[in-house]
Amino acid sequence: MKLQTSDLKCEYRTNPLGLDCEKPRFFWKIQSETPGCYQQSYRIRVYSDDLSGSSGELLWDSEEVESDDSIHVPYGGPALTPRSRYSWEVQIKDRDGNTSPWSGRSWWETGLMETGNWETRWISSPDKSIDSPCLRKDFHIRKELASARLYVSSRGLYRMMVNGEQVSEDLFTPGWTEYRSRIQYQSYDVGALLVKGENTLASMLGNGWFRGSLGFAGNGAVYGDTLELICQLHLRYSDGTEEVLGTGDGWTCGEGGVRYSDLYHGEIYDSLMEAEGWSRPGFDDSSWSPAVVTDTPCTILTAQESEGVRRIEELPVLEVLTSPQGETILDFGQNLVGWVRFSATGNRGEKVRLSHAEILDSEGNFYTGNLRSARQLIEYTLGGEDTEIYEPCFSFQGFRYVRIDEYPGSVDPENFKAVVLHTDMEETGEFSCSHPLVNQLQHNILWGQKGNFLDVPTDCPQRDERLGWTGDAQVFAGTACYNMNTALFFTKWLNDLKTSQRPNGSVPAVVPTMPETDMMMPEDSGAGWGDAAVIVPWSIYQAYGDRRLLEDQYPVMKGYVDYIRSRAEDGLLWNSGEHFGDWLALDAKPGSYKGATPDDLVATAYYAHSAAVLSKAASVLGKSDDASEYSELNSRIKKAFQDEYLTPRGRISSETQTAHIMALIFDLVPGEHRSRITESLISNLYENKWHLSTGFLGTPLLCPVLSMVGREDAAFRLLLQEEYPSWLYQVKKGATTIWEHWDGIKPDGSMWSDDMNSFNHYAYGAIGEWIYRNLGGIRQNEENPGYKHFTLNPSTVREITSASAALNTLYGEIRSEWSLEGDNFSWTVVIPPNTTADLVFPWPGSGAPENRTLGSGSYRFSYSIDGSMIPELPSNPPLKPWEHED
Ligand code: BGC
Repeated sequence: MKLQTSDLKCEYRTNPLGLDCEKPRFFWKIQSETPGCYQQSYRIRVYSDDLSGSSGELLWDSEEVESDDSIHVPYGGPALTPRSRYSWEVQIKDRDGNTSPWSGRSWWETGLMETGNWETRWISSPDKSIDSPCLRKDFHIRKELASARLYVSSRGLYRMMVNGEQVSEDLFTPGWTEYRSRIQYQSYDVGALLVKGENTLASMLGNGWFRGSLGFAGNGAVYGDTLELICQLHLRYSDGTEEVLGTGDGWTCGEGGVRYSDLYHGEIYDSLMEAEGWSRPGFDDSSWSPAVVTDTPCTILTAQESEGVRRIEELPVLEVLTSPQGETILDFGQNLVGWVRFSATGNRGEKVRLSHAEILDSEGNFYTGNLRSARQLIEYTLGGEDTEIYEPCFSFQGFRYVRIDEYPGSVDPENFKAVVLHTDMEETGEFSCSHPLVNQLQHNILWGQKGNFLDVPTDCPQRDERLGWTGDAQVFAGTACYNMNTALFFTKWLNDLKTSQRPNGSVPAVVPTMPETDMMMPEDSGAGWGDAAVIVPWSIYQAYGDRRLLEDQYPVMKGYVDYIRSRAEDGLLWNSGEHFGDWLALDAKPGSYKGATPDDLVATAYYAHSAAVLSKAASVLGKSDDASEYSELNSRIKKAFQDEYLTPRGRISSETQTAHIMALIFDLVPGEHRSRITESLISNLYENKWHLSTGFLGTPLLCPVLSMVGREDAAFRLLLQEEYPSWLYQVKKGATTIWEHWDGIKPDGSMWSDDMNSFNHYAYGAIGEWIYRNLGGIRQNEENPGYKHFTLNPSTVREITSASAALNTLYGEIRSEWSLEGDNFSWTVVIPPNTTADLVFPWPGSGAPENRTLGSGSYRFSYSIDGSMIPELPSNPPLKPWEHED
């Protein structure tokens, strides 16, 4: 294949409609069979098109630019105008003198761009007691239509229809943001749904995050008690004239089939209440009330920032069970997030009632204790006509099991499908190896991400919580970026984090904010949670090389570190305030959720780390004064850390695993004491027979620190540990997602108490990053973010004899596949065009080729090794005379 470009994207998306970005960025991938292909120059041409897609005149020609940039290349032409379509194409040259043909055209379209361009008004139901109001308006189209765009948003959730057809596949629109300051609007091409003559705009609203239950205190209407809709329809006619319609006067409001909806509690739908044809022309709405026009400002509206939440896949029923208590239970075989779509045939007024749960109890009965107050109940009343098919609109459930509480006739598993919902991000990672339990662990990590990336990163998706806990997102972000392209998902969330940063620089523990969690620490951040403000932008920058994001977030990062400085003793020791500590670590005192590592040690360690990351971000952005100020601050915090927590001979004051891990990984230990602290961590693990006791903050760093100090054997020992507590213990207990607690289900089958026992909590899934990096061998290089230049270097122990890892980066696919057969090691690697990789061959000195740097291409190596160099797993300590086998 000759030199070519492919996969053109604008702001990470293919042909996006509704961007409010003044200088959108372009991305392309390069295809070439020539090894070592590297871009020498590019040329971009942008055209201003017609909204109906026909190409217009040239707007901007970048001319040939000598540059190897093929991602995040900013538009540099004249100012863009709202509601306009642009197409673009790119041509590149490589360093061997080849020129690609011009790519095909891709396009993007601007949204309303300025809030002043909203000409319509918000409307609501006159009756606030209606749970899910339906709003409608008929209108007439007299002329030939050339194009039509609809801009729409709501306070609450909306389902928007034109002539009875939904305007898009997006669900849970307008998404969850920091509602008090910003609400997204979506932009849709509705031309194909409109006809000459009578038409209808119609929308149903739901409570969602805005007015439904939110938070564990059982509160509702957290952001407001009135659901509202706004939409603006721009009609462009073939004769060149334009018309704008939308919400305002003349809309009517009635009730529909959705009688109740709540994200936690489920949905009640009554077909008998559904007004037939209400969303289409010809409906008699004379008995409906006029909708109320409200004075909610439009300045709150901002264009959609990430991919939408969509139906991603469907799972069939694996088995129909009858529990000891006689319940009929559908087992979908996978703990998932979404809903059940079912069909039923019965008499008018008969019901379908479904309850959802993550697990069964030790006897095999349906178990909902861990959902706390979340009811997760779907109730549907049949209209009695033919076969009826239903799926909820405004509620999602976290479940593997569904109990059939009521159903007309016998249960045919074919009539039930689990529909998996999450933000529609591209899956970018792939990992498997010769160890089936590790493969299941990777599967569980991925499903933890699917379940908890529904518009915002949540702690869990099932109980009365489902909140954007910052600490959870912080520890998991690196892993998330391997599994899926999360650039836009986190950009949106970080915009909310930015909005919620307080004047003193602290950030709330939960983003978007929630009054009750905000009250926990009204002016403070917990260490490791608030640090999301610094670490998440850095992780995203690392994975995608997105400098603009780093620039946008930089003031937030700096504000946060300065906030800690203002709280810390002498600006150095963060020994005050409330913290979550090493949350849920097993060394917690009875009755506490917090691990035994002292709060101030954890907080000061994180403070040092965040100052170091901030300093690196400052250098990337060319802010050299800040770079030296925060690097110097980091050195002083380190010194203070050593004075406070290290004895002069290098013993750490807290004996916990997490204290050791943090001291080492955040580089807080003077060189001469590193080996002593390392030894002490290893002997702690050894004495514990290679069992971890770490929580949310210690665990994600555990295997990375062991690799860093050259004890990969110990890291693998922990990864492959099958006894309680460990990652594989959960797997062996049948987990299909990651648990919140190491002892969610104890070895004797009993459960950790109901009050906080999620079986879909991704935090401990943060081991995923280490698996891709170390076992798979795909390692991001800090100085060359976005995998422009990276390292390939797998490692293993005897227990794992092959692994295959792939990552579809913005440049293209990286692959590292290796296997060990006897003494023969084979390794296939793929390096995408316009990147380079350092290959580090495992087990040097035993027939391995010399390490080297390679450009793009597919390469295969095979060499014989000295098998004794592959590490063995360290063994358990011998039993002491006073010990006995468990
Ligand atoms: C959540 C956690 C969260 C924590 C904060 C819990 O209720 O489920 O994942 O980070 O609170 O301490």
